[in-house]
Amino acid sequence: MSNEFTVQQLLERVNGTRQGEEGNERVRQFTARIVSDLFRTIDDLDVSADEFWAATDWLSRLGGSGQMGLITAGLGFDRLLDIRADEADRQAGRASGTPRAIEGPLYIAGAPLSQYETRLDEGEPRGEVLVMEGRVLDENGQPVAGALVDVWHANEHGRYSHFDPSQPPYALRRRIETDAQGRYRFRSFLPPGYAIPPNSPTSELFEALGRHGNRPAHIHFLVAAPGQRLLTTQVNLPGDTFIDDDFAFATRDGLVVTLEPGTAPQGYESLGVTGPFTRVRFDFTLQRALHEDESKPLARMARVAG
Ligand SMILES: [Fe+2]
Repeated sequence: MSNEFTVQQLLERVNGTRQGEEGNERVRQFTARIVSDLFRTIDDLDVSADEFWAATDWLSRLGGSGQMGLITAGLGFDRLLDIRADEADRQAGRASGTPRAIEGPLYIAGAPLSQYETRLDEGEPRGEVLVMEGRVLDENGQPVAGALVDVWHANEHGRYSHFDPSQPPYALRRRIETDAQGRYRFRSFLPPGYAIPPNSPTSELFEALGRHGNRPAHIHFLVAAPGQRLLTTQVNLPGDTFIDDDFAFATRDGLVVTLEPGTAPQGYESLGVTGPFTRVRFDFTLQRALHEDESKPLARMARVAG
């Protein structure tokens, strides 16, 4: 057998298995497709060796930077998966519920758990006081008691606890269990939008693409309950410059909330509210789970880990 290959023969070798081995068929299928597409890209665009090695250097640095989850969002993959899930729901005739939105790479499991209400912010009040409240409903509009609302958002500098070591553990991250009427509420402050880190592999690519790396102000949620499909979503705060131009493509028309500034504090004393504040009212509507796996309150990486 000759060891001189055409490109086609090389591809067949790359995608071949050892004698008697089958490997993982799905992984082999993906690899064969991606490698042959890249071979074709290199050929069609006449990619030079220097360009190829510059790209692999960038990928190595990206992997080391922990920014893989920023790139997947910024290149549209996170939204693509949501578009595909929405389409699958439509084809299956499933009720839509609250629109899903991307999880993003900055979720941490195990935030402190409260019943009905809690404060996300600790210590000194900062920013404009926000109380967000509402109910978790099933697809028939009935309240879901004992649902778990897992909420997280960035601090006033656009950074997330855990990934930003200057913040206390689980700062601005909480889990809230809904009461018998399916209600939840929490106090925090209106978070700002934020941008991808400068001087990073992600910003390098976005500069080369001529794109910005800004996300409009938002609050993330995972909402879970037995028998209901896990909902991963986020709400957007209106008025942000980038609300219709999110670098991660995560704004959805049904998720831009209404701010009610100047809400009177009566009835909110247990959250330490003493003066007028900004209220947001938002109900989450869950889809009925078709099987147990759909209702597991797991973030994306926990699902992958099994
Ligand atoms: Fe975020």
